[in-house]
Parts: sequence; C-alpha cells; structure tokens
Amino acid sequence: MKVIFVGSEKASSGVGVIPVFKGGKFYGAAKRYARDSVGQIKAAMKAGHFNGEKGSSVSLYAPTGSKLAGLLLKGAGEKTDFDAEMFGATAMKALRVSGEKTLTLHLDGFKLKPDDAARAVVGARLAAYHFFKYRTKLPKGSETTITTIRVSVDDSAKARAAYQKFHGPICDGQLMARDLVNEPANTLYPNSYAARIKKFQKLGVKVEILGEKKMKELGMDALVGVGQGSRRESQLVVMHWNGGKKSDKPVCLVGKGVTFDTGGISLKPGAGMWDMKADMGGSAAVVGAMHAIATRKAKANVIGIVGLAENMPDGNAQNPGDIVTSMSGQTIEVQNTDAEGRLVLADALWYAKERFKPQAMVDLATLTGAILIALGHEHAGLFSNSDKVAKAFAKASKHSTEKTWRLPLAPEYDRLINSPIADMKNIGGRPAGSITAAQFLQRFVADTPWVHLDIAGTAMKNDRKDPRETTLGTGFGVRLLNQWVADNYE
Ligand code: BES
Ligand code: MN
Ligand code: ZN
Repeated sequence: MKVIFVGSEKASSGVGVIPVFKGGKFYGAAKRYARDSVGQIKAAMKAGHFNGEKGSSVSLYAPTGSKLAGLLLKGAGEKTDFDAEMFGATAMKALRVSGEKTLTLHLDGFKLKPDDAARAVVGARLAAYHFFKYRTKLPKGSETTITTIRVSVDDSAKARAAYQKFHGPICDGQLMARDLVNEPANTLYPNSYAARIKKFQKLGVKVEILGEKKMKELGMDALVGVGQGSRRESQLVVMHWNGGKKSDKPVCLVGKGVTFDTGGISLKPGAGMWDMKADMGGSAAVVGAMHAIATRKAKANVIGIVGLAENMPDGNAQNPGDIVTSMSGQTIEVQNTDAEGRLVLADALWYAKERFKPQAMVDLATLTGAILIALGHEHAGLFSNSDKVAKAFAKASKHSTEKTWRLPLAPEYDRLINSPIADMKNIGGRPAGSITAAQFLQRFVADTPWVHLDIAGTAMKNDRKDPRETTLGTGFGVRLLNQWVADNYE
C-alpha cells in the first residue's frame, strides 16, 4: 500500500472521504469541494437527513468541480473525541473493493495531531488486510482495488514523520504477525518459521537458532518434551537488537510458538481443532515486534525469544504423568499434555533470565481457553510480579489501543499446582485456570520484573466486529510491545 501525506489540497482522482462532525460541520479541503460543487454537498446532506451523527454517511458520485469518482461524507461525531484510526478503518472498509485505486482521507483544516493522522493510515491498512495467498480464484468484487492511501492534513511533514518513524513500521510488523498466524501448520512449522526469522539479519538483527540437540545440552527437557511426538524438530530462536547503550541491560520479549496444538496424547476434540494452527500467536507478536523495532531503529536493547514446537500424539509423544526436568532444575509432572504452552515457556523464560539478566521481561502466549471465559476477545489477561511494569503496560495498552486487564497472582493459587511426586504439576484444575497457568510461569522467572500476557482471546478471533480485524490472526501484541519499549526504554 502506497501512503502519501499532503497539505490541504483537493484530490484529483479516486475517492475522497470527509469527516463531518456533529451539526454538519466540515473543514479544510472539504470546504473547497463544497464551494466548487455549487451546493451539491449540502444538498446531498439534506436529502440524506445527515448531520454528522457517528455511524451514518452519505455518498456522492462525480461531484461537480472535481475530478473525483466520488465523495464519502462520514459522520464523525463530536470533534473533541474524533477517532482518526477508526475513521481510516471504516473508510477503507467502505471503499476497499470500490474499483477505485486511491483513497484520500481529508483530515485537514481542524488541527488534527500528526500522530492521529498517522493512525488514520494504520486503521486503513489494518482494514485492507486479507489473507488471500491460498485463494486461486476470488469472486469478482472481493479483490482490494485501493493501492494508495492519501491523507491531507495540516501538518503533513510531521504526520509523515510520525508514520515513517513509528506507526508505519509497527503496522508492517502487525501485518507480518497476522500472516504468520494465518499460515497453516503444513507450511509454518518450527524449521520453516525459524528460517523466516533468520532473514531478519538483513535488518541488523542477530539471529541464533537452537535445535533439539543444543536445547537438550542446556537441559530444556520441558520444551523439548512438547515436540517429541512430532516429526518436526523443535527450535528456540533468539533475536538480538542492540540499538541502545552497550551498558544497558536488555529487555526480553518471549513468545509461545506452538505451530500446531493437537493437545498431544491428551488429545483435543476435533471440532475447531484447525484453529490451533494459531497457537503460535505469542511468538508472532514477538517476531512482528522485533521486525518493527529493527526497522524503526529503536534506541534500546531488545532480545526476542520464541520457543517453537509442534504438539503431536505419536509413539514418541510424552504420556500424561511423565515427569520432566526443566532447565531450571525444577521437575514437572506433565498431567496433561495439552497444557504444553507453559512447558515451552518455562524453559524459554528461564533461559532468557539466565543468559540476558534483563531489566524486565514479558511473555505472550495463547495459553488458556479459560482466559476467553474470563475476558472474552476484548482484553488480554495481564499478570505481573511487578506493579511498576504492570502499570507501564497498562499505559502502553491505552496508547496502543490493545486492551489488557490485570488478574491476580497469589500463594493461594500457587499451591494448586503442587505435586506430591514432583516439584509441580502442569495443571491446576478448572477453577482459575488462567491464573494457575500464570503461577506456573512465575516459578521460572525468579525475581526478574515480568509481565505475562494471555492472548488466547485477542490474538485469534473468528467472531469480529472491529473493522480493523479481518482474519483469524489479529496481530495482537505488536503495537503494545512497541509502545512499551518506546515509552520506557528508548
Ligand atoms: N493453546 C491452548 C489454549 C487455547 C485454547 C488457545 C483456545 C486458544 C484458544 C493451550 O495449549 C491449552 O490447550 N490449554 C488448556 C490447558 C488445560 C489443559 C489446563 C486449556 O485451556 O484447556
Ligand atoms: Mn494445549
Ligand atoms: Zn497450546
């Protein structure tokens, strides 16, 4: 998608979209259209009983006095709470398959912040995203025709800078995360996934790939055990971005990358199992975030670590009741092979902590079905051993529009994962399922300030209402991670 920022000027081709605020007010270039169209705009608004109410709109074709194919007047509500990102998203949704090539968002004349103008493009790009890679034929009219997004805004230079330096690269990262999540497990498996990440070296990211032999040497039997029933070799991929001072300790981003989760011997039911190709959504967020961090040359030291494994039932698979020793030395009774994400993260988190001694670390995982019961698809569950880092995340969450909700950690929950025959078991029973999973992870971070995000409900969605979400994979986490790094470590 080509993106252009211009000052207040009338567009000469494609479709123009104009926000009309409550009371029928519009500004900037839109006023010139109104003048040149000798009353057509006012007449259309009147005929359409339209005065800028949010959610309503009126369109005009070939308005007199311009070379545009059409104008879309979109109700934008009160000027004080104008949501530029949603404006961009709904405009794209309305016009994506219109046949026109250029979508011009007229956001000039009312002193819109440059940051918001950049976000309008983000909204439009997210709404334009589709995963058509495996469609050999598309019904006529479902192909995206828009190839250029043009934004007219008062301070176009600042808006362009905000987009190119921050929002654009982050949006690229988010769309990359969506692509990874939507990719099926016969093409995206630990090896092929690691090979994709290896390409980040072009961006100045150092990439290390650890296979099963190396992981075994390090004592990562919890992680390796998850993939032992698969013909695909598990991988641990470490991405290094050194954009900060040499003396600064890094922050670590850790992701669950189960490229397919059958449940293993504790097999999942067949209905809906296909969505478990998306059980690598946490890793996709980390990978997309690292891509963005490197492209925008963030002035921070950031390490991305993803544990990649395929959870399969097979003659070599682990059995319920198996006891494994994690890299930390702690033993785990694997009562349920479907609670595999925490086994992957146990070793990945311990490794991150031991090797990098990070200032803070965060993990993202499609960890529990229980988080969907608690928070639905709207908020990711946030758990933390540090009020300071939890607060920083709450703030980043607000700015990035990726919502989180903090849930508790406490000794009473921790007790639920004790096992009489090992140091712990990997399930804690039905009550507080997301919390006991987080308690399990906490046993592998020691006193490193840490946040765990359970994104099972937010990284993958079948039921979508937000125009920015168009496929199973949402790319959740890329924006949040970047905002958190930018706010606190750059
Ligand atoms: N990947 C699943 C969690 C999940 C469920 C993600 C639904 C997205 C949608 C995870 O590995 C899992 O199977 N968790 C079990 C844990 C249980 C066995 C303690 C679950 O949530 O049922
Ligand atoms: Mn599972
Ligand atoms: Zn899983």
